[in-house]
Amino acid sequence: MSAAAAELGPVLSAGGPALAAGLARTEERLAEVAAGHGPDLEQHAAAMLTAGGKRLRPVLVFLTAADDADGRLVSAAAAVELLHMATLVHDDVLDRAPLRRGRPTVFATGGRAAATATGDLLFSRAFAELAATGSEEAVSHLSAASSALACGELMQRADAWLAGVSAERYLERCRLKTASLFDACCRLGSLFGGTPAQSAELGAFGQDIGLAFQLLDDVLDVSGPVERTGKPRGTDLLDGTVTLPLILARAEDEELRALDLRSITDPALAEEVCDRIAATGALDEARGEALEHVAGAKARLDRLELSPDRARALRLVASGVVERYA
Ligand code: IPE
Ligand code: IPE
Ligand code: MG
Ligand code: MG
Repeated sequence: MSAAAAELGPVLSAGGPALAAGLARTEERLAEVAAGHGPDLEQHAAAMLTAGGKRLRPVLVFLTAADDADGRLVSAAAAVELLHMATLVHDDVLDRAPLRRGRPTVFATGGRAAATATGDLLFSRAFAELAATGSEEAVSHLSAASSALACGELMQRADAWLAGVSAERYLERCRLKTASLFDACCRLGSLFGGTPAQSAELGAFGQDIGLAFQLLDDVLDVSGPVERTGKPRGTDLLDGTVTLPLILARAEDEELRALDLRSITDPALAEEVCDRIAATGALDEARGEALEHVAGAKARLDRLELSPDRARALRLVASGVVERYA
């Protein structure tokens, strides 16, 4: 098990053999789907597949299903992970990111054209995988998430280097670019797992933990350490992405308020600014906001009709999104 996947250890134990079997089948399916598209694309897609992602989105598909007998759950799990990987490959082009999961990004090894094509391939395979289930509803859930993601990523670019961006707008961006896919994962689990009546509430649970997940990701970008996150500290500052830690820190620190974000072009300076942000207490405050969403997600679980085992595992997922380093 990779270091990143090990962070989900308690969830995997709670999910038992059924979750392990579902994830193993998803892994086989992912390998099949990525193969056979010519040596270049195959190499990049395989590098992405084997780089040790946490597979959190497939976990959500399986855990939100009451009944795991339907083979379409594996297709849904593979589809959400393919979509996730597609967005990461494209995100690394937009963010000009050198490292992901501790390894060079497709953008870094193959350049913009290869990364764009690899992302496109993964997107198309995600939708083909879900279309093969014959469920229009499933495809429309993934399409909604994918469209929201595109809007969120564009919003992030539009707001680049705008230090005065509001916390509300930041949260809306997180909702679009991250929480929407978590929402879709839970709805797909519900759709194929025999609990369609709970789809909306499970989706809202996904939204809450998705928001917490992105909030924490943005905290980790400032706090690191790189050995645990697999990404250098200050990546967001270097590409002009204004996140909640910076928004909160600027309210406390006059020097940070006066700083022209475009002047942060050097990784060493970015690390210094990270330290300055941390010194204001903004990281704890942003973590606190993430914890509120986790509490909201857990309250939803109490209102849902879930087996005790599923509820326990989903509770661990909710806690895990803020107790992690990768
Ligand atoms: C990274 O997601 C992108 C964000 C939404 C912050 P993950 O941290 O789930 O990525 P992997 O798949 O485990 O690498
Ligand atoms: C999340 O945003 C990426 C997507 C939702 C596609 P980030 O840009 O913060 O993700 P990382 O930090 O690169 O993983
Ligand atoms: Mg990024
Ligand atoms: Mg990030």
